[in-house]
Amino acid sequence: MILVTGASGNVGRELVRELDAKGVEFGIFVRDPGRADGLSPRARRVIGDLDDVSTYAPALAGVDRLFLLVPGVGIDHTRGMVAAAKASGVARIVLLSSYNVMGDPMPAMGRWHHERETIVRDSGIPYTILRPGGFMTNALEWAPTVRAGGVVDDPTGPGRYAPIDPADIAAVAAVALTEDGHDGNHYYLTGDEMFTVAEQVAIIATTLGRDIEIREAATPEQAVASRYPNGAPSALAAAILEGFTLMRQDTTGFRTDTVERILHRRAGTFAEWCARNIDAFR
Ligand SMILES: NC(=O)c1ccc[n+]([C@@H]2O[C@H](COP(=O)([O-])OP(=O)(O)OC[C@H]3O[C@@H](n4cnc5c(N)ncnc54)[C@H](OP(=O)(O)O)[C@@H]3O)[C@@H](O)[C@H]2O)c1
Repeated sequence: MILVTGASGNVGRELVRELDAKGVEFGIFVRDPGRADGLSPRARRVIGDLDDVSTYAPALAGVDRLFLLVPGVGIDHTRGMVAAAKASGVARIVLLSSYNVMGDPMPAMGRWHHERETIVRDSGIPYTILRPGGFMTNALEWAPTVRAGGVVDDPTGPGRYAPIDPADIAAVAAVALTEDGHDGNHYYLTGDEMFTVAEQVAIIATTLGRDIEIREAATPEQAVASRYPNGAPSALAAAILEGFTLMRQDTTGFRTDTVERILHRRAGTFAEWCARNIDAFR
């Protein structure tokens, strides 16, 4: 059986759809079954919590392939889950990492992912590592100020990147979980279109049929606060600030065609993502 962590999140929810469509047997590791409402009833609910190591082994019983997505900072969850996976005979791990691991010097966000990758590689379990760039769903962070006043605080100005639809990350994960030929690979995943924040916001505005003002974020801290209105752990906030600084400096951007090579179709566009998610901005 395949076990999916992070199943109620941006990538995980799409991965549930993919695995459901493929008709394979799979379970989802959820701390609160209510969070899985609306996900396919075919996904076996496996109750577990990454913050409770005693739940790992029972959740992994009978699992032969693991999609491992660890939110937040640090490596403890990864170390514990990979050790439990090894003990229970898991034969393949697909790890969600980040393109930040290619930074030189490596930013904090990249270092955590780099250490998690190392744990997986050192386990001896066959693996595929997915290294996506910025997600299209990050645009949802702008929804509250768009709804309230038609404004987006832009932390990255001239910086460009090629945001990826989490549905494409999930589709690649589903291939790596269910098909042979991907063991030992590290896939850098991006969308196919290069944008500044202002250019992305223009697409949201067109889809919405309403103007949206772009306001340079007064301080990077303000941008972090708009991402985490209830506050973020200080290490995470510092890492996001660092990420904004690096994005601002990168006026070229990084783009790959890995999605197209693996899925044999083009990567989803931001306009398509907006069309599916525009209600969040109304
Ligand atoms: N955003 C980006 O641009 C970007 C770029 C590259 C890499 N990444 C990486 O992508 C990952 C985030 O993916 P995402 O956006 O799909 O995640 P997400 O939407 O933030 O969802 C997080 C998932 O993890 C689950 N979760 C949180 N704490 C848990 C716990 N203690 N026990 C069990 N499950 C728990 C959540 O479940 P609940 O529903 O219970 O909260 C949810 O399903 C991170 O590793 C991040 O570093 C992000």
